[in-house]
Amino acid sequence: MKILIVGSGGREHAIAWKVAQKDSVEKVYCAPGNGGTAVENKCENVNIEDINKLADFAAENNIDLTIVGPEVPLMNGIVDKFKSLGLKAFGPCADAAMLEGSKAYSKDFMKKYNVKTAAYEVFENKDEVLKYLKSCEYPTVIKADGLAAGKGVVICENYEQAEETVIEFMVNDIFKGSGKKLVVEEFLEGPEASILSITDGEIILPFISAKDHKQIFDGGKGPNTGGMGAICPNPYCTEEVLEAFKKDIMEPTLKGIKEEKLDFAGIIFFGVMITKKGPYLLEYNMRFGDPETQAVLPMMKSDLVDLILASLDKKLSSFDLAWNTGASCCVVAASAGYPGKYETGFEITGIDKTNRVFAAGVKYEDNTLKTSGGRVLCTEALGDTIEDAIERAYEDLKNINFNGIYYRKDIGRL
Ligand code: AMP
Ligand code: GLY
Repeated sequence: MKILIVGSGGREHAIAWKVAQKDSVEKVYCAPGNGGTAVENKCENVNIEDINKLADFAAENNIDLTIVGPEVPLMNGIVDKFKSLGLKAFGPCADAAMLEGSKAYSKDFMKKYNVKTAAYEVFENKDEVLKYLKSCEYPTVIKADGLAAGKGVVICENYEQAEETVIEFMVNDIFKGSGKKLVVEEFLEGPEASILSITDGEIILPFISAKDHKQIFDGGKGPNTGGMGAICPNPYCTEEVLEAFKKDIMEPTLKGIKEEKLDFAGIIFFGVMITKKGPYLLEYNMRFGDPETQAVLPMMKSDLVDLILASLDKKLSSFDLAWNTGASCCVVAASAGYPGKYETGFEITGIDKTNRVFAAGVKYEDNTLKTSGGRVLCTEALGDTIEDAIERAYEDLKNINFNGIYYRKDIGRL
């Protein structure tokens, strides 16, 4: 089999590593991939990002399966394009990807199908939203409707901050169109969980739970990033929480997908907040999470390619999805200054002394691995307990060095 993976992050490196383990997989192309996939077993990077050119590549090279990592090509219809050419691609069609691409659409979907979520209002007019914000309770949550690279949600403590946020999003248009429509939402409190799942349109099969750490500094302080580390399973996801998640969130979502005819084979990643009143859905992501995938896939006992093929064949109901016991932890090493300005091009040393590294902002140049992004790489380790896994991931990370290396010291410590 030949597989094509679209994307260039740590998530895509983890997917490439996992699918390469299957004996019948002879080649894994990563488009564009990164310095980690450049040197991974069976992998080869191809420098293509345009959807039409990716489809041409898949057709010309007899690719058996394409797996799409990031949300932007999904929203731009990469799976629809591949399907129209008879090519096998795993991920939602553009209409289902809107469950991630538009917060207003996804909240309306949740409301219509009784998916448990925070109360909300949608606004497209500045004066109307400001009038509403004068009389609402604080804190309140303002969300840009469209994709905003993780910066589109602001928890406002008072009217002044809410007004400032509305001006930035709607008038100053800092997200270039994504903030023209706003969702104003009830503030919820509690630990968060990332529950990835796979669907074939007939059933949703949840994965083992995970928890990521979004803020840059220890103690959950500082600005949000793409994710500084993750653990799996999530200690807050008790049997009781998972039962409530299935009943109040997952099953109504499946009903909605069927009734709206959003038929697809892909990942649904539920961003959940576990409140005193049970789990509430914060958002859908219609793709693998990053860095959750780097912690979750090493825990997967089943073959990922077989799982994805079962999803594409609508045979998930008879698939025996198995997980390793124990726990997993991944810790991200970032460039100094990230998520603000940072420099790149520094040599990375010590990877050969580690057990497992997934690369993200890494390029392979002149036979050397160099930094090329904000989140550079993560070490990932399994353990009998979460404590073991955390300790091992940090032990490995001590071997890695590059100019300005920064990482949180408290991943997995809740
Ligand atoms: P979202 O993109 O909707 O997942 O929001 C990003 C982050 O903002 C979440 O991971 C939460 O930490 C926070 N957040 C979103 N919605 C709420 C809410 N209703 N109440 C409190 N925090 C929220
Ligand atoms: N870790 C959150 C995300 O992938 O969006």
